[in-house]
Amino acid sequence: MSHPLRLGIAGLGTVGGGVVDILHRQADLIAMRAGRPVQITAVSARNRAKDRGVDLSGFAWEDDPISLAHRADVDVLVELMGGAEGPAHMATRAALTAGKDVVTANKALLAHHGQSLAEMAEAAGRVIRFEAAVAGGIPVIKTLGEGLAANRMTRVMGVMNGTCNYILTRMESAGLPYDQVFEEARALGYLEADPTLDVGGIDAGHKLALLASLAFGTRVSFDTVELEGIERVSIDDIRLAADMGFKIKLLGVAQISERGLEQRMTPCLVPADSPLGQLQGGTNMVVLEGDSVGQIVLRGAGAGAGPTASAVLADVIDLARGLRIPTFGQPATTLAQATTAPAVMEAPFYLRMTLADQPGALARVATVLGEAGISIDRMRQYGHSDTAAPVLIVTHKTNRNAIDTALAQLPNTGVVVGAPVAIRIETV
Ligand code: NAP
Ligand code: HSE
Repeated sequence: MSHPLRLGIAGLGTVGGGVVDILHRQADLIAMRAGRPVQITAVSARNRAKDRGVDLSGFAWEDDPISLAHRADVDVLVELMGGAEGPAHMATRAALTAGKDVVTANKALLAHHGQSLAEMAEAAGRVIRFEAAVAGGIPVIKTLGEGLAANRMTRVMGVMNGTCNYILTRMESAGLPYDQVFEEARALGYLEADPTLDVGGIDAGHKLALLASLAFGTRVSFDTVELEGIERVSIDDIRLAADMGFKIKLLGVAQISERGLEQRMTPCLVPADSPLGQLQGGTNMVVLEGDSVGQIVLRGAGAGAGPTASAVLADVIDLARGLRIPTFGQPATTLAQATTAPAVMEAPFYLRMTLADQPGALARVATVLGEAGISIDRMRQYGHSDTAAPVLIVTHKTNRNAIDTALAQLPNTGVVVGAPVAIRIETV
């Protein structure tokens, strides 16, 4: 066999530990498939004394990940520290400058610096691979960049944050409010150190922006992702949506048209019997649509040591085999700067409001909707107290501007109690 591919692993937490573990257990299998041995030569983390449950005795230790990136006995920096800035960014740049390839699981880094890092890598004749950064163990980057490379992609969508899907499905199955399930998720160790990254939709937004770049040949544009987290999804909405045949998911949708690039990561209703509607717990699902291939659905573990390390090592094996693909599937300088599409894509919406129980209340709501150009598809009024009644409306297709106009007008009717809720319904 030819000379080994030598790795420097920066970060020995959940994912880094998983990579070391798989390489210990599967060294022969990986060498056979890669056509050469894959070896870790050096590692870096903050705390050298920490017991990580894996044997690190054969590897050199670097306190500083930048020194790791510079080592002459490292061919590939495997960046598993996390964070858009700081050591992850600096070590990645140092590795490319020093002529090393980079494998990373860091979606935040690439969502913020993907274009400049891809250009830097190409100028240096190096590559950056990031299979583990999106949807954990699901090989979606490879699917888009290789398997579907002959397609003009039309839409990419999916559930890409396992923590949010766990919270939403647990709220439904146990009938528990958001705050209680959030605390459960925290106790189970599901949440990122900064939970806003998960429940605020930011982590999933990072992933969507990376997929959109690969799918549409556009520069990563995280700043233009319309973001809304799950913090305001109530158990009432989950129950009422279920009653109308829907589930609520934190759903990412990216699509491109002559109007520009539209990227949304927001709570949406999806049909309960659709593949997305049936997705349980921490599982991820990505739906890819191309002009020739039609629709592809990928489903699997979006996080955890084993699945994420599996994806990291898939990238490493590609490098060992000599497979060198541009970061976002085509030369970085050819990626287009997409304009942001105005929010005019039409969809049905779910509207929930509480109405004063008085004559003409529904008529006033219908008038506001009609004046905003919104047509009602279905409506249900639920059992109510003496003074107020919950009302649920599913609209025909309309656009977000019309919904916002109606939401602004509804309080002026004098019959709507509290703030009405509007959630987009996505057809899959
Ligand atoms: P983690 O468990 O928090 O581990 C982070 C590691 O980085 C730790 O070993 C830490 O050292 C080390 N580190 C942090 N700052 C450092 C510094 N300045 N110098 C050297 N080492 C430093 O994180 P993780 O869950 O493995 O995630 C790693 C990356 O994978 C992130 O980009 C994350 O978004 C991504 N990812 C994670 C998952 C998942 O399921 N966890 C899934 C997909 C993608 P100490 O151990 O000494 O503190
Ligand atoms: N916090 C992320 C999730 C980890 O819950 O999906 C994987 O990227």
